[in-house]
Amino acid sequence: MSSGYVERLDRTLRQHQDWRTKECLNMIPSENRGSQQMKSMFLSDLGGRYNAPDKFYRGTKFADELQALTEELARKVFGARYADVRPLSGHTADMAVLLSLTKQGDKILSVNPDNGGYPGITHLGLGRILGLENLYFRYNDDAVNIDAKGSSHLMKDPKVVFFGSSFIPFPHPAKQLSAQAEGVCVYDASHVMGLIAGGAFQDPLREGCSLMIGSTHKSLPGPQGGIILSNDEEAFSKVSGKIHPGIVDNIHLDRVAALAVSLIEMLQYGKPYAQAVVKNSQALANALASEGVKLRGAAYGYSKSHQVLLDYEPARLKFLALRLEQANIITDDGGRLGTSELTRMGYGPAEMESVAELVAMIVLGKKAPDFVQKKVKTLVKQFQQPRFVLTSFPKPFD
Ligand SMILES: Cc1ncc(COP(=O)(O)O)c(C=O)c1O
Repeated sequence: MSSGYVERLDRTLRQHQDWRTKECLNMIPSENRGSQQMKSMFLSDLGGRYNAPDKFYRGTKFADELQALTEELARKVFGARYADVRPLSGHTADMAVLLSLTKQGDKILSVNPDNGGYPGITHLGLGRILGLENLYFRYNDDAVNIDAKGSSHLMKDPKVVFFGSSFIPFPHPAKQLSAQAEGVCVYDASHVMGLIAGGAFQDPLREGCSLMIGSTHKSLPGPQGGIILSNDEEAFSKVSGKIHPGIVDNIHLDRVAALAVSLIEMLQYGKPYAQAVVKNSQALANALASEGVKLRGAAYGYSKSHQVLLDYEPARLKFLALRLEQANIITDDGGRLGTSELTRMGYGPAEMESVAELVAMIVLGKKAPDFVQKKVKTLVKQFQQPRFVLTSFPKPFD
């Protein structure tokens, strides 16, 4: 009875696995490749267990210790006095912030989704659900960044000011603007968490932000999940205090242990990894530009992060994402090209030139996707092992 389903499951999973890992250039900046060591945590007993702050469940003494160890690592990697690894995703962390620090009718300030802001906190998402008044920074399109001067007058009223964004090629002016804010400044580092871990971007907790929150799986090559970091006891205890039982019940202990592995990787290799990501973005952007591909942020050096942004009309970007996919170059409809996963897999600046050539063939319509796809497959075959991983690690679970 079940054999048909098992075969279908097995076949489809293998198709996905072989295609995305062995045949594609994975360039979605929200994604990354975890190490085998990190993934081995998902085979442990932890994924079937519960723990809770009030110790309602027994049998958790080692699980609790693992959670404490992960939080200790997070504090160390990010130079934070407080860390909470219970949010199940970046969005859950955003939700914890808004549910703790705002009430209906309050104003919050963030980057408009039209300018690449994360929609989840805006009038399209939590802002509407929670009855908040969403205000948006003035934006400088050429700089692909918040217009700090033009946004000064917006800093007084909002209860919460969010820096960070989904389209983020350059550091945000957090230091300058947080000094003028009367509410709590929060940096949503979902995208740039790995760059911050490696000291290759900005440092929000030392630039006036009370909280840094976000995903643990974008530029940080960790398990899919969320995190809250802070040096501000009051802000942290308000947000962290709301997590259980309000926002998360089961914290997915296997994910928490997997995050510990990724944080150890960051302690050891975070700096060279993050520097290599930014260097690769710049190499990719320069090579694309010299091929004639239109990019945003030219006057600012294109990128200081893991993102390079194509500069075409929305309908064209959607079309290009489809054509690139046909060539096994996986991006998104917004024209973001990410370098985190390629860097993680060992691609360097020289390979970025080859990648740029392949991307340009599609974007400029010079070659058919089939032609490019063959070249992509040949390139990808050479980069099959994640780098920046721990060389000595206990044997994974059976
Ligand atoms: C800036 C930002 N914050 C939050 C999120 C949500 O993250 P998650 O998918 O971990 O819930 C995203 C998603 O891409 C994002 O770009």
